Amino acid sequence: MPSYLVTGGAGFIGSHLVEALLARGDTVRVVDNLSSGRRENLAGMSGVDFLEGDLADNGVAARAVAGVEYVLHQAAMPSVPRSVADPIASNRANIDATVNLLVAARDAGVRRLVYAGSSSAYGDTPTLPKTEAMPPAPLSPYALQKLVGEQYCGMFTRLYGLETVTIRYFNVFGPRQDPSSPYSGVISLFIKALSEGRQPTIFGDGNQTRDFTYVTNVVDGVLEAAAVPGIADTVINVATGGRVSLMELFRTLQRVIGASGDPAFGPPRAGDVRDSQADITRARELLGYAPSVSFEEGLARTVEWFRRSQAAAAPETRS
Ligand SMILES: NC(=O)c1ccc[n+]([C@@H]2O[C@H](COP(=O)([O-])OP(=O)(O)OC[C@H]3O[C@@H](n4cnc5c(N)ncnc54)[C@H](O)[C@@H]3O)[C@@H](O)[C@H]2O)c1
Repeated sequence: MPSYLVTGGAGFIGSHLVEALLARGDTVRVVDNLSSGRRENLAGMSGVDFLEGDLADNGVAARAVAGVEYVLHQAAMPSVPRSVADPIASNRANIDATVNLLVAARDAGVRRLVYAGSSSAYGDTPTLPKTEAMPPAPLSPYALQKLVGEQYCGMFTRLYGLETVTIRYFNVFGPRQDPSSPYSGVISLFIKALSEGRQPTIFGDGNQTRDFTYVTNVVDGVLEAAAVPGIADTVINVATGGRVSLMELFRTLQRVIGASGDPAFGPPRAGDVRDSQADITRARELLGYAPSVSFEEGLARTVEWFRRSQAAAAPETRS
């Protein structure tokens, strides 16, 4: 049975990777400092070896990789606005932690490390869709740090022979995405606001577009990236290949939830990109990847999860 380390496994995407690995019988360790993740995200997933600690501490990184064959590196401070407000803290979580983990993985003889890259690396270059060959143009400390992380990964393959693969995620959404912080993904914030009878705020004119990707599609791509031979030192987009504007997202969610009215609008946010859409040709060719869950189906599943978790958390407050 292969053994996996999921860093940031108590977070949104990490917890879905853990769930998928356990479901197929693999051995799973999680390392997480619970800065944005929550133990409850792993509720019901028995058999996880949970290590609470900060990967910016190299002792933690060494303990985390001991005896592990594959590392799925999800841990990060994944927020553009937080990185703009506090670039040093974000650098520590996104770069220091990654370098510590790479060194530890190299020294422990890990077979492959799959790194969670970000579409933010592409910045505001006008060409759509984004191909991996395009020159990066990060607009925020977060985007730059995620890019540096993936370049460190490639360098560790070339310098030390540690197999690494970067999967660039686009806008991922799904159950367990935390809507409680203003830095959360837009879909979880919209669902929370509309479900509570409030209108969400759209920063900008609402015509900005994103390649919103249901989390199961990302899990599929990452697990393939750990398994497929001969792809070390590559960067691969994993998304849907489509794009949806924030206004279209808003209207679709209104229909799913049964809400009406217009959103509030606020000023565009510093460091945000205008349009984002992935070219997923490389993922198809190298990983045999195809998105299995559509945008609409993903939204329906996410709304359903949100309703169930609200009902479970506060049954007495429901009308
Ligand atoms: N959600 C998206 O749309 C998206 C898009 C592109 C890339 N990504 C990347 O995917 C990964 C997962 O993102 P997510 O949306 O699940 O975010 P998340 O905040 O839910 O998960 C990140 C996890 O990392 C943990 N963590 C942070 N710093 C740590 C440290 N120093 N040591 C140990 N644990 C630490 C947090 O506690 C959290 O559990 C991140 O690397 C992020 O940059 C996400």
